[in-house]
Amino acid sequence: MIIAIDGPAASGKGTLARRLAEHFGLAHLDTGSLYRATALRVLDAGGDPADPGTAEAAAKSLDASALDSPRLRQPEVGAAASLVAAVPGVRAALLAFQRDFANHPPGDATGAVLDGRDIASVVLPDADAKIFLTASAAARADRRHKELRQRGTESIRAAVLRELEERDSRDGSRDTAPMVQAPDALLLDTTNLDADAAFAAAVKLVLARQQRAAPERRAGQADPSANRS
Ligand code: CDP
Repeated sequence: MIIAIDGPAASGKGTLARRLAEHFGLAHLDTGSLYRATALRVLDAGGDPADPGTAEAAAKSLDASALDSPRLRQPEVGAAASLVAAVPGVRAALLAFQRDFANHPPGDATGAVLDGRDIASVVLPDADAKIFLTASAAARADRRHKELRQRGTESIRAAVLRELEERDSRDGSRDTAPMVQAPDALLLDTTNLDADAAFAAAVKLVLARQQRAAPERRAGQADPSANRS
């Protein structure tokens, strides 16, 4: 079972992905952390995140330990992440890792949940279940502002809103793998839907996809020539 979750900044993708992963025994990859880690590496070296050569070299030199830094969640790292994410060489460098994680999930997981911007459209177009999670910019800014304050990070709501809108606009308009709702994705707008209701809707979708896949698998086993053309 492979689940793809996409959506704009602070739409709750991470929370939903973690809950689904736990519920179904799947591994979870927050693909935003790859772009954030790339950005952090560039910032720490005093480089320009918008410079393609610098950003691509940083993406190619990432190692797993870079994904654990608590500094990844800082707003300035998010803003720089959206700059490095527009560089085609960065996206190409991170693609194989994401596909490999989905196809060979760590531990004894029976599948994976990946969340990001281009998971259903580019990284895993054959995912079993696809969700596009969104909410109004105001609702997302409220949530991110609260989250930052809870974490002890200084935050001004108006600045959070401006940063989210800037990032969404850049992520949605870049040439390579822009943020998009895949045509076969379930749209969940959480402006007026709480986290439990969004989770319940996502579980229903995954169960429906599992049921649909089961007879197809059985049919394939009963008649080995069924999938040959
Ligand atoms: O947590 P939040 O929604 O604020 O952002 P994130 O998922 O950590 O992603 C940070 C940035 O990475 C985004 O604004 C995108 O520019 C980029 N990103 C991307 O381009 N493609 C992905 N699959 C995931 C993130």
